[in-house]
Amino acid sequence: MSRTILRGRVLSFVSEPQGIDDTASYRYFADGMVVIADGKVQSVGDFDAGVAGDAEIIDHRPHLILPGFIDLHLHYVQSQMIASYAGSLLEWLNTYTFVEEQKFSQQGHAGAVAAAFYDELIRNGTTSAVAYCSSHPRSVDAYFAEAEKRNMLMVGGKVMMDRNAPEALRDSAQSGYDDTKALIERWHGRGRGLYAISPRFAITSTPAQLEASRVLVAEHPECYVQTHLSENAAEISFSMELYPDSPDYAGIYEDYGLLGPKTLLGHSIHLNHRETQVLAETQSVAVFCPTSNLFLGSGLFDRERLAKAGVRIGIATDIGGGTNYGMLATLDEGYKVLQLRGQRLTPLNSFYMATLGNSRALSLEGIIGSIEPGCAADLVVLDASATPAMRLRMETVTSLVEELFLLQTLGDDRSIAEVYVAGARAKSTLGGL
Ligand code: GUN
Ligand code: ZN
Repeated sequence: MSRTILRGRVLSFVSEPQGIDDTASYRYFADGMVVIADGKVQSVGDFDAGVAGDAEIIDHRPHLILPGFIDLHLHYVQSQMIASYAGSLLEWLNTYTFVEEQKFSQQGHAGAVAAAFYDELIRNGTTSAVAYCSSHPRSVDAYFAEAEKRNMLMVGGKVMMDRNAPEALRDSAQSGYDDTKALIERWHGRGRGLYAISPRFAITSTPAQLEASRVLVAEHPECYVQTHLSENAAEISFSMELYPDSPDYAGIYEDYGLLGPKTLLGHSIHLNHRETQVLAETQSVAVFCPTSNLFLGSGLFDRERLAKAGVRIGIATDIGGGTNYGMLATLDEGYKVLQLRGQRLTPLNSFYMATLGNSRALSLEGIIGSIEPGCAADLVVLDASATPAMRLRMETVTSLVEELFLLQTLGDDRSIAEVYVAGARAKSTLGGL
């Protein structure tokens, strides 16, 4: 079996950091190596030339080698409408989003957008993501086909929506069920693809569609569930008008059996006490989408309250409500959102969230998100001196934590020196660079 050895400074988390000095939460090798065989990490540790044998050695010193970033919520079909000017969520959805997503009925459109979308993920160091496709099954085919071509672990699904959207985007409770069922059979577990059952949100699904979603979830417990929860005040009150018998917004999904350890709830900003308890009890995941929440003026995620209640938390870009493909920028904005809440997100916690934290949110620890023997060799190589401003600041950096904070605050795609997907170089081999 041929082996590749990456040499560099290696950082991988083993637990959630409990503070800025929690050195037990990670493993760090100042002159480390990652031995890769068959697309997986074979071993990790201090560099040892004796182990190299006939393996190819790729020297990334002085850069940092981390697990590839994981993005827990985004819409690949919104790639061509990022930066659309709107006052709030529902205006943005009706004016731009539902117009843009209609283009995915056209032959060839989904494939072209998917290819560009994956290039952008890789350019930004993201090796796995959880995405919404449009309501057209062909958008899902394009999404998973492109992932398979690139050997990436990707989660996604066809958005289901049977009301409060243009006719061209609407499915029905029955067709949404049938299409989802066929797509699960086609894509879940094929290559590294994993399916997410995706009722868009309560506003765009009738009770009949949420009932069909309940059946899908019961029939396919191996799949994820993704939807949106409590992003914006107008959205919440419209949802409660549509589901007057549910106690609150999270209660709608609870009533249809949609909460659980494989459920990802985008935004989860304005939750009441009961909702917080229900998310914790069902082990559902609240997904923090900071650039989107600021861009759409949706509100400030309350990480501390959710964490104290025992809610599992992930972090995501939410392209195209989100404004940046990069998890570095997402961590930066996340830090600022929490500053406005009077809460702190340590740099260790940030990078934990983008790697091991998000893999745990997907229950994929040991598969992605760590540099440990047996994990996929999905890796990102970070250069904290990628720009003149970063180089200048690096002259005064004296610790790993400071360097991480610099990376998230000033870093962008220029800081992504290389990306490996299943052990293969993915960034430097992108076309058009
Ligand atoms: N809620 C329902 N659909 C969407 C979407 O596409 N983006 C965001 N940010 N929120 C939503
Ligand atoms: Zn979303």
